[in-house]
Amino acid sequence: MISIKSKEEIEKIKKAGHLNYLTREHLKTLIVPGITTKEIDEEAGKFITSHGGIPSSKGYEGYPGNICVSVNEEVVHGIGGARVLKNGDIVSIDIVVEVDGYHADAAETIPVGDINAKKTYLLKHTEKALYEGLKEVRNGAKLGNVSAKIEGYAKKHNLGVVRELVGHGIGTSMHEEPDVPNFGTYGTGITLKTGMTICIEPMLTSGKRYVRVLSDDWTIVTLDKKPSAHFEHTIVVTDDGYEILTGE
Ligand code: MF3
Ligand code: CO
Repeated sequence: MISIKSKEEIEKIKKAGHLNYLTREHLKTLIVPGITTKEIDEEAGKFITSHGGIPSSKGYEGYPGNICVSVNEEVVHGIGGARVLKNGDIVSIDIVVEVDGYHADAAETIPVGDINAKKTYLLKHTEKALYEGLKEVRNGAKLGNVSAKIEGYAKKHNLGVVRELVGHGIGTSMHEEPDVPNFGTYGTGITLKTGMTICIEPMLTSGKRYVRVLSDDWTIVTLDKKPSAHFEHTIVVTDDGYEILTGE
């Protein structure tokens, strides 16, 4: 069953989403060459708890971090540690915040100092792919349209589409039905309804789409070690489109 959220529930997700937004903005001011991924994780934890939220990822299926911090060839689920960010790196911060029993999930990939043209292209078009997918969202539309749009956009721009990880519904749990793949076929899948809250999160690569898990059992990296980017928002389906719940 895919739940339809009430106005009150949507307001709660939006509250968590706003704190998620503020946390990302705060972290962006700290992300400069020389910072470690552990420092980013710790700052995120402090910021979220001091603003009345809970970092949902902490302890989720044993995950040790407050948020996910993934550098360059790391696609998602990187764990903050001793790695020092260098000029020219890209770092994805993937944050889930709980407020009042409701979760909001968002991610973005941030340049560290000056990045090369290839990484600039990857970031620009991964974020664009998210917004292209969002254009398909409205009451009555098929979820497969969103997936197909993201896949088509990525392929047109010569970027790999990671298939092993997908977006998801969200609410009182971080992960709810339905799955939201970044590949698919128009006219297939469930029908989106006003009040559904879902996370759309393209993970695209500069090289091939293939990934593997590191020996920490969490960090997903590209097999060919080419960089990867990740942009995600939690949104609510509306009668004629969507509203972003993890924005300003
Ligand atoms: N933010 C991730 C997602 O988009 C989930 C984090 S997994 C965790 O679904 F284990 F780190 F919590
Ligand atoms: Co997510």
